[in-house]
Amino acid sequence: MKTRIITLLALVTFLSAPIKAQTPIYLDDSQPIEARVKDALNRMTLEEKVALCHAQSKFSSAGVPRLGIPELWMSDGPHGVRQEIQWNSWGSAGWANDSCTAFPALTCLAATWDPEMSAIYGKAIGEEARYRKKDVILGPGVNIYRTPLNGRNFEYMGEDPYLASIMVVPYIQEVQKNGVAACVKHYALNNQELWRGHINVELSDRALHEIYLPAFKASVLKGGTWSIMGAYNKYKDVHCCHNDLLLNKILKEDWAFDGCVITDWGGAHNTREAALNGLDIEMGSYTNGLTSESEFTYNDYYLAHPYLKGLKDGTFPMSTIDDKASRILRMIFRTVMDRNRPWGAFTSEAHYDAARTIAEEGIVLLKNAPVTKKAPALLPIDASQYNKILVVGENATRSLTKGGGSSELKVKKEVSPLEALQAMYGDKIIHAQGYESGRPMYSNTDKIPAEVVESLRNEAIEKAKEADLIIYIGGLNKNHLQDCEAADRITYGLPFGQDELIKDILSVNPNMVMVLMSGNAVEMPWVKQVPAIIQGWYPGSEAGNAIANVLSGKVNPSGKLPFSFPVKLTDNGAHAFDALSYPGDSIKQVYKEDILVGYRWHDTKKIPALYPFGHGLSYTTFAYGKATLSAKTMDSNGKVEVVIPVTNTGTREGKEVIQLYIGDEKCSVIRPAKELKHFSKISLKPGETKEVKFTISVDDLKFYDDSRGEWTAEPGKFNVYIGASSTDIRSILSFVLQ
Ligand code: BGC
Repeated sequence: MKTRIITLLALVTFLSAPIKAQTPIYLDDSQPIEARVKDALNRMTLEEKVALCHAQSKFSSAGVPRLGIPELWMSDGPHGVRQEIQWNSWGSAGWANDSCTAFPALTCLAATWDPEMSAIYGKAIGEEARYRKKDVILGPGVNIYRTPLNGRNFEYMGEDPYLASIMVVPYIQEVQKNGVAACVKHYALNNQELWRGHINVELSDRALHEIYLPAFKASVLKGGTWSIMGAYNKYKDVHCCHNDLLLNKILKEDWAFDGCVITDWGGAHNTREAALNGLDIEMGSYTNGLTSESEFTYNDYYLAHPYLKGLKDGTFPMSTIDDKASRILRMIFRTVMDRNRPWGAFTSEAHYDAARTIAEEGIVLLKNAPVTKKAPALLPIDASQYNKILVVGENATRSLTKGGGSSELKVKKEVSPLEALQAMYGDKIIHAQGYESGRPMYSNTDKIPAEVVESLRNEAIEKAKEADLIIYIGGLNKNHLQDCEAADRITYGLPFGQDELIKDILSVNPNMVMVLMSGNAVEMPWVKQVPAIIQGWYPGSEAGNAIANVLSGKVNPSGKLPFSFPVKLTDNGAHAFDALSYPGDSIKQVYKEDILVGYRWHDTKKIPALYPFGHGLSYTTFAYGKATLSAKTMDSNGKVEVVIPVTNTGTREGKEVIQLYIGDEKCSVIRPAKELKHFSKISLKPGETKEVKFTISVDDLKFYDDSRGEWTAEPGKFNVYIGASSTDIRSILSFVLQ
C-alpha cells in the first residue's frame, strides 16, 4: 500500500512539473555551426536535401519549411543591390522601394589601390543587401583583365593578380559582417564575353596558377568567402560550373573551401557532372525557356528530380548530396539564420559618402599638360580664368548605372557630371550633347539618323568656338557591344563617332579636358592634342560630384591604373597572336601570351603602353629618396626589408601609391621582367616626408613550377623596383636568394 502511494505521488509530481522544451541543436545558436549543420542534416529527408540544391525562383533557393529553415535570397551585385526581379522571368518586379545606392564599378575600386576603400565598399554594399533582405550578394568579380575588348572588365579588378588579391579581401570580409554571403565570380577563366557559354579555354598550368587563380584563392583563404560562382565557359573541355579539377580538387581540396559553389545563371549543363563535380546550387537553368510553370518547373533542373532519381537508384553516391546539403545549411546558418546579424541600411548619407569617396580615390589623372608652353597645367580648373566652359559629350548627362547586363542598377540618385559642374560653376557652364548612342539596352540595335548626328556635332563645334575651356565627357557606356555583359567590344577605338568629333572640336578649340568614362582601355588617336585627360570610370550615384571635385581641385587625384592602356590593340599580349588567342574559333581559345598578361607583356616584350599599369598623376609632386635594403642576401626562410622615403615636393596635400615590383634576373623558366609584389598608399602634406617599409619574403620570389605542381624560387639575383608606376621606376636594388 505504502509503495503504491509513493508511486502515485511520484506520478502526480511528474505530471505537474513544467515540461522543459528541448531546443533542437540546429536551432540553438549557442551551438557551433558544424553541430547545427549535422543535426539539421540528420532530420532531413532526401527530398528536402535535394530541394536545397537548385533554384525555386530566378533569385532564390528553397529552405526546409518543415524544420523552419528559411530560403536563401540572392541578388546582383557587384556595384549595388539590383532591383527586384520577377519570380519566373528576368523582368522587373516593379517594386517602388528597391532603388539603391550605386557604388563605383570595381575597376574604379581597384584604381584606388587602397584596401581601406574596399572595406568601406564592402561594408556599405553589405548593409544595402542586408536591408533588402538578401542573403547572398553576387559579387565581387575578380576575373583578370586579359583584353580591353572584354565587355565585362568594368566588373573586375584589373590585370594584376596581386592587386586584385589584396583588394578583394576587405570587400568580402565587410560584406559578410552583415550576415550576407559574398559570391566571388566567375570562377574561372571567364575573361571574355564572346562565346562565354561554351568556349573552352586552353592555357598553361603556370598561367592558371600565377595569373588567373590568385584572386580567387585569396578570396577563399584570406577573405573567407562563403560562396563562389562558377563561370559559364569551359576549362579542359568541362563547363566551369561543374568542373572536377577547378571545384573538387583546387577549390575544395587544395584551398579547403567550406562554402557553396553556385552556378552562373544557366551555367549547369548535365546532371552527372553537376552531381559529382563539386557544384552545390544550380541557378537560372533554362533562363530563356522558363515562361510557364506547367511546361517547365524548377523540379526539372539538373540538380532537382533528375538528381533525386540518380541518388535513389544508386547512380550517384549519397555522400554527394550530404556534402552539398551541409554546405548550403552552413551558408544558411551563416546568413539568414544568424539572428544576431545587423539590420543593414539603405541609401543612407553614409553610403553616398562612401560611393563618392571611393570614386574620388579611384579617378585617375592620366595627363595634365599646359595648352601652351608658358601656361600652367590645365588642371585643376581655375574658374577665374574662364567665362564660358563648354561641357560636351553624352556621358555628361547619361545614366551609366543602367544597362551593362546583370550589374545594372535602379538608383535613387545619380548625380550627372553636368549637374555637378553647373552646381560648381553656375552660369559659366554651357552644354552640348555632341553625339548620341541610343537607349541603354542589353541588345542595342538603335541606329542614330545621320541628320541627328550632324546637328549634334554642329552644335558642339559652334559652342566650342565661343568657349574658353572644353570639358569633354565621353568614352564608352553600358550599351551592348560596349562595357556590357554577353558580348565583347568590336573595336578598341571610341564608339559613336567620338574620335572624329573630338578631332573636329580640337581644330576649333584646343583647350580641352577629356574625361573618359569606361571600364576598359580605349585607343586615343587624339592623345597628343588633348592637354589633360582623366579616367573617370563608372563612379555610380555620386559620379558627377566626384568628377567635379577632381576637376576643380577640391580633391587631389590619387588613383592609379589597374590595367595598361596599349597604344593599339595588337600591343596587348592577347591580341599579339592569331585569332585562336583572341577570340578563339568559337569552340576553343588558347591563351598564347601565357603568363605575360598586361604590363608583364609590355615590359618583357619592350612594347611601351600608352598609359602603363600603375600610372596616375597628382596635382602635387612626389620625390622618392634613396631606397635601402636590410640585407644583400636572403635565405630560403628569410625576409628582406626595403625602406624608401617619399616627400611631397609640391604645394598641395596629396596621396601617392608606392609600388614594389620584383624581377628574377636569371631563371630556368621565362619570367616577366617584373611583377607587382607590394604597394602602399600614403598621404603627405606639402613638404612632408614619410618612410615606406616593405617586407619581401621568399614567397614573393616564387613561380609556379608546372612540372612539379608547386611554387618555387630559384636561388640567384632578384631585382627590386620601386616606383610610381610599372614604368616610372625611381629605385632599383638587388639581393641574392641563397
Ligand atoms: C551573370 C552573373 C549574374 C547572374 C545573375 C549572369 O548572366 O553572368 O554575373 O550574377 O547572371 O544575374
